[in-house]
Amino acid sequence: MNVFRMPVSVAVLGATLMITGAVAQPASAHPGPGPGPVPLRTLAAGTGVRVGTAVDMAALADDTTYRTTTAREFNSVTAENAMKWESVEPTRGTYDWRQADDLVRFARAHGQAVRGHTLVWHNQLPGWLTAGVADGSIGAQELRGILRDHITKEVKRYKGRIYQWDVVNEVFEDDGSLRDSIWLRELGPSYIEDAFRWAHAADPRAKLFLNDYNVEGVNAKSTAYYDLAKRLRAKKIPVQGFGIQGHLAIQYGFPGQVAENLARFEKLGMQTAFTEVDVRMILPVDDTKLATQAAYFRGLLDACVQARRCTSFTAWGFSDKYSWVPGVFDGQGAATLMDEGFARKPAFTALGEGLAAGA
Ligand code: G3I
Repeated sequence: MNVFRMPVSVAVLGATLMITGAVAQPASAHPGPGPGPVPLRTLAAGTGVRVGTAVDMAALADDTTYRTTTAREFNSVTAENAMKWESVEPTRGTYDWRQADDLVRFARAHGQAVRGHTLVWHNQLPGWLTAGVADGSIGAQELRGILRDHITKEVKRYKGRIYQWDVVNEVFEDDGSLRDSIWLRELGPSYIEDAFRWAHAADPRAKLFLNDYNVEGVNAKSTAYYDLAKRLRAKKIPVQGFGIQGHLAIQYGFPGQVAENLARFEKLGMQTAFTEVDVRMILPVDDTKLATQAAYFRGLLDACVQARRCTSFTAWGFSDKYSWVPGVFDGQGAATLMDEGFARKPAFTALGEGLAAGA
């Protein structure tokens, strides 16, 4: 069962298509990889929304077109994998900050802000940690100290250079129950508030986010986050933002009540953000699918630009050449803003139009 399922909302989809005027155009109709009319980051000026991308550090190092496009089009970057626990502490007590440092350096050189991703997750944990918990050699008390030290060390290293941290990632199931993980099993639900306390102590200026997928509209999962955020903020826990990943698929329809969802978190005093947007499709690509994809990207962007405190809109990669989707969803792909040759797809154009309209 695909984890990133979307309820169908044809009315919203139809309205969105009307808004964007996403007319079917062959991807080839869009200019190649070179500079377009106006970079997305320039069009974003005046919207109050940073436009960003997740960054594949190997591509940044080895692919000139990828690197120049990343610098030209975006004013926010997120490490796709380089800041995850398995990357920064591959063996216990031995750290490898090279790729994360490279991204922070690249961002500083190109006037970009950095989103930190992610401090506490059930996935991409280092083998020494999962094995230690599994064989009982790491007990609950020691695990809590290890988590505290991990968060403190990583957040302090980039103190003042990361504007939003995804502190905890994907902690609820789609039905609103807490996700079973080593964190919940060993530490109980309090690991979530502990993570926010420790991150805030390490960098009081970073905005601290919850982050998940399938939470674009109002549903059991997003309501579980709303209730959690309300409860923790009442205890003065610094839960300051709600990150909506935005991994959509055109075969599941566009989510309903996106604006209402953003508004309720913002009424709690929180920021919101779209943190990992891509829109996959069942291959092969055709112009109708590309037009629908463009409407979905535009629909989420419009919700962000029109919200009061949606502060960043990040695509989860910008070229199909490096997308995670084909490796996970068999027979699906073409999920990003540019094709494998970095030609702009209608979705890229739709984002630019949405930013220009929002400005
Ligand atoms: O680093 C190893 C490399 O040494 C090895 O040779 C290679 C082949 O096995 O694997 C490499 O690790 C891969 C890693 O990405 C780094 O490239 C893993 O296999 C691969 O599973 C991992 O995929 C990442 C995925 O998270 C893991 O769940 C994707 O790139 C990344 O885009 C994706 O991002 C997540 C967000 O962090 C959270 N939200 C969902 C989103 C999509 O799953």
